[in-house]
Amino acid sequence: MAPKYLTKDLVPLTGSSAKIPRIGYGVYRSVDCQTAVLAALSVGYRHIDTAQFYKNEADVGRAIKLSRIPRKELYIVTKIQYPVKDSVEETLESLKDSVQKLDSGEEGRPGYVDLFLIHTPSSGRQGREILWRALEMLKEGGGAVDIGVSNYGIEHLFQMDLYTSTTPVCNQIEVHPFCQQREVISFCRSKGIAITAYAPIVRNRRSDNPTLVTIGQKHGKQSTQIMIKWSLQKGFIPLPKSDNPDRMKANIDMDGWELTEEEMSEIDHLDEGQGGAICPYPLNCP
Ligand SMILES: NC(=O)c1ccc[n+]([C@@H]2O[C@H](COP(=O)([O-])OP(=O)(O)OC[C@H]3O[C@@H](n4cnc5c(N)ncnc54)[C@H](OP(=O)(O)O)[C@@H]3O)[C@@H](O)[C@H]2O)c1
Repeated sequence: MAPKYLTKDLVPLTGSSAKIPRIGYGVYRSVDCQTAVLAALSVGYRHIDTAQFYKNEADVGRAIKLSRIPRKELYIVTKIQYPVKDSVEETLESLKDSVQKLDSGEEGRPGYVDLFLIHTPSSGRQGREILWRALEMLKEGGGAVDIGVSNYGIEHLFQMDLYTSTTPVCNQIEVHPFCQQREVISFCRSKGIAITAYAPIVRNRRSDNPTLVTIGQKHGKQSTQIMIKWSLQKGFIPLPKSDNPDRMKANIDMDGWELTEEEMSEIDHLDEGQGGAICPYPLNCP
């Protein structure tokens, strides 16, 4: 039986009729992406997170086709980083190109992605507006069910009120015990914006942390699993990546056990603020 977190635990998105699976599978730096996605789908993942920047959208699309899993059972996310030639129309073409790679559609059904994100706020105030307008057009045309942002700080989200009445359904940011992003998360929650958590296991760089190791020993789990469980119990949507099928399974072995309030609080105390971040994206760039 597939784990509950993948098949049944779907999170409603504010302002959308769609629901997002509670754990996603990330493919950044996936070595053999098509094989990895096929393996991830076979162990039960149904939510795949890619990006134009990862240069593996076509591999993800091929794996989805080969899996023969009905499209409506999958949740596919991709991202665009910069507008094309400062043109909404040309940017829209780039979005459509991603959709085509991920889901070319079937007879009687056009292709679509479930969620298209702006990858980072780095293109500046005008660039972000162009990207958002193109995303709105993609959504209106049925190429994306929902649209959202990634690496957005409070200021970037505030600014959106100047050029749109559409609220992003999610903000995908780096979140794990060592970088807990409390301010931006609290702001997002006040607006109904879901948090998808990237690098949820800190790329395995902090798994020897004594607090995580001790809690893991109590539950018979690895530190990486403790970090994913913490993310879930915080209400985030973690996106662990692994090329290794055993690790893929371990990262979704989340049924039938819970961290206690005390353990959650111990992990809360591991926060190092921005100093604990491993990705250089500044949430406060202009
Ligand atoms: N929006 C953004 O700007 C942004 C930025 C970064 C990432 N992301 C997304 O978030 C996803 C996850 O982030 P991430 O890939 O940076 O980091 P991550 O998921 O925290 O860590 C992935 C690393 O941990 C290793 N690993 C996975 N499971 C493990 C386990 N159970 N035990 C030990 N090591 C394990 C993986 O190696 P193996 O593959 O060898 O198992 C890989 O090196 C990405 O793939 C991407 O989809 C988005």
